[in-house]
Amino acid sequence: MPPLVPMTSKKTLYLVAGARPNFMKLAPMVRALAARPQAFDARIVHTGQHYDREMSDVFFHELGIPAPDHHLGAGAGSHAQQTARVMEAFERLCMQAPPDAVVVVGDVNSTLACSIVAKKLCIPVAHVEAGLRSGDMTMPEEINRLVTDSISDWFFVTEPSGEANLLREGKPASAVHHVGHVMVDNVLFQRDLLERAPLAEGASLAFKAAHARYGVVTLHRPATVDDAATFGRVAEALRGVSAELPLVFPVHPRTRANLQRFGIDLGPGVELLPPLGYMEFLNLWKDAVLVLTDSGGLQEETTALGVPCLTLRENTERPVTVDEGTNVLVGSDGAAIRREVARVLRGDGKRGRRPALWDGRAAERTADILARELHAGPEPLSAARETGLPSIHS
Ligand code: UD1
Repeated sequence: MPPLVPMTSKKTLYLVAGARPNFMKLAPMVRALAARPQAFDARIVHTGQHYDREMSDVFFHELGIPAPDHHLGAGAGSHAQQTARVMEAFERLCMQAPPDAVVVVGDVNSTLACSIVAKKLCIPVAHVEAGLRSGDMTMPEEINRLVTDSISDWFFVTEPSGEANLLREGKPASAVHHVGHVMVDNVLFQRDLLERAPLAEGASLAFKAAHARYGVVTLHRPATVDDAATFGRVAEALRGVSAELPLVFPVHPRTRANLQRFGIDLGPGVELLPPLGYMEFLNLWKDAVLVLTDSGGLQEETTALGVPCLTLRENTERPVTVDEGTNVLVGSDGAAIRREVARVLRGDGKRGRRPALWDGRAAERTADILARELHAGPEPLSAARETGLPSIHS
């Protein structure tokens, strides 16, 4: 139920999405905001950080996200190039048509770029999936999280560690809201859709039909796939695992390029596929014996659906998936990977539970809090508008 607050006028929100892991967080937010039409006019801003059909368009289509209201066309590049392009284009947009608030999700370069731009124009920023910390400053996402959280006005948190991190960093408790996880809203919603309408076509269906038991692999982090020695070690472990359990591996563009560059052969037991759309990928991993990944989001989605997940990283910014969920950190050490796989195959794998508030209603809670804050709270943007927005040249 929308909160009982005086609705003076609709508030315009820019919902920012840039890269693949943002799109599944955007979909439930779009639905929740659209269900509160007296409170919000939500506009979607696609930065263009991911731009391919298979990395972007297919997600908008399958997740039911309307076409973006604004497309910034940033495209690929180095971190600085990508961030700078998004900042320039988003600043132009916010100067021409300032929103009442900007909502950023996750930890990609677009999250960082748009939160900085908004904040410097005195537009309040809401960060969805705030407070996560790996403590690993070699991860670009960790830098993005720290900078975004250092300037955001509202923090929507997915798990207890996020709340504890933000409070330790001095954020006011009144601005930190443990609401659950919008990405879990999405996976539950899409799983129900899939149950009602099973997939009829896709490159992975033949693989699934041919194997009663299989594992799913995803790898894309620079720390795993940009270093020839680490990637080679992981590849050897995967070849070993695939002798006991057939593996299927939808390959991210960065990973595809490095497989070629380093001449890595994963052997006949690992089926390589192009990046898959959301539904096809969900259809594959939800019935897998286990998932091997270095992704952040998949650690959480597997916990949400109770699928064993072995994470090929030394740390995680999502500790609730280890403390309560199905996630085990195995790093890139071949022996550790093989040992954990064997445990799952023996039926001795970790059984987790779904963490508190991962119930499919996080976006609704977030929208209610934003409605209350923007309609009843002080209005930072109106105040800024009265005195004029800061000049970009000052
Ligand atoms: C980005 C995010 C990461 C997220 C990942 C999911 C940052 C810092 N990183 O990393 O958090 O987990 O997305 O994919 O924001 N490419 C294409 N087509 C596309 C997009 C990218 O071919 O649609 C290519 C790029 O040209 C580049 C490579 O893939 O060569 C990597 O893309 P990039 O956006 O730089 O970062 P990701 O590794 O995808």
